Amino acid sequence: MNKKTVRDVGVKGKRVLVRVDFNVPLNNGAIEDDTRLTAVLPTIRYLQEEGAKVILLTHLGRPKGKVVPEMSVRPLIAYLDRLLGQKVLFAGDCGGEESLQAVAGMKAGQVLLLENSRFYPQEEKNEERFAKALAALADIYVNDAFAAAHRSHASTVGVAKLLPAVAGLLMEKELKALSFALHNPVEPFLAILGGAKVSDKIGVINNLLERADYLLLGGGMANTFLKAAGHNMGKSLVEEDKVEAAKELLAKAEKTGVRLLLPTDLVVAEEFKEGTKKRTVAVNEVPKDWTALDIGPDTVKTFEEAIGKAKTIVWNGPLGVYEIPDFAEGTRRIAVAVADSTAKAVVGGGDVVAAVRKTGLTERIFHVSTGGGASLEFLEGKELPGLAVLADK
Ligand code: 3PG
Repeated sequence: MNKKTVRDVGVKGKRVLVRVDFNVPLNNGAIEDDTRLTAVLPTIRYLQEEGAKVILLTHLGRPKGKVVPEMSVRPLIAYLDRLLGQKVLFAGDCGGEESLQAVAGMKAGQVLLLENSRFYPQEEKNEERFAKALAALADIYVNDAFAAAHRSHASTVGVAKLLPAVAGLLMEKELKALSFALHNPVEPFLAILGGAKVSDKIGVINNLLERADYLLLGGGMANTFLKAAGHNMGKSLVEEDKVEAAKELLAKAEKTGVRLLLPTDLVVAEEFKEGTKKRTVAVNEVPKDWTALDIGPDTVKTFEEAIGKAKTIVWNGPLGVYEIPDFAEGTRRIAVAVADSTAKAVVGGGDVVAAVRKTGLTERIFHVSTGGGASLEFLEGKELPGLAVLADK
């Protein structure tokens, strides 16, 4: 990575503002998955050991510039206390009077968490006044929020322009793993893409068609490709305005010689819900009033065979409606195949990560990314604004 990291700056006695991504699933104040908390511990601990005052800044959810009490980050304090083995301080604002006072009272090694940055409308608009208020809290800015690096907000870009700005250790780890897969993969390089919409994935498919040996497509977005290949998809989600784009991508795969594998069978259902009537059909037999909600067993077998040949794997997006257990089987089986394979696998996106965790084989995965949208934009070859703004080595 050509960006400076926390190791490249002196932080002793300094106030260090660390942008983290603590956008975790909260249910009545309880965290359902604390991966994003544990993932930044190395950066926090490093800064503490070096004698810095650590100020944590995050967004949580999409409160749209308003104070939404259920999206307060205050419940995270108890978890951070436990993880760090010390009392973490809290300021009920973000760059206001309370934060200023809390920072003024900090000692080296202490950690302070600021309230949700998205309670302020200025955050997503990247307003300079808000960025200046954040910058006034610190001497150095560290971005360890890889998962939010694709956002051009005051806390990811604006403030980074006003302070010496470097990457955190999680940011460094994420970029190393993703860069290996995208720019320097051991071949065969296989990519698996799923998720509901093809419109979100056109850019990444385009880029991967120039790099991968295999491209496996599933999930709702595969329906648009199946339609482009001439199949009748019944009531399945198809983005009609993207059928042409899908045709072009299929033609590009032919030209570049990438083995693009589409589902050959599907689990179709009468309705989009748990417990509804379902059956498995070949892709050319989707009934008129039924909806495709998962890949079928023949597809799983074909995908497993391809996965078995790969040496590098990138996976983003579930292959069926994973949140409904009736339609989670395809994603689950592919998660087992990826974990079982000897390939170096980089997986990202909430549902895929959950599926991989459920296999109990996560330690065999080369890298589980904390980023969903951010890892996708990276794979698309886009510049991440939150990264671009950091100091070069
Ligand atoms: C994520 O969960 O992908 C990140 O925290 C970014 O969240 P956002 O899509 O609401 O910006």
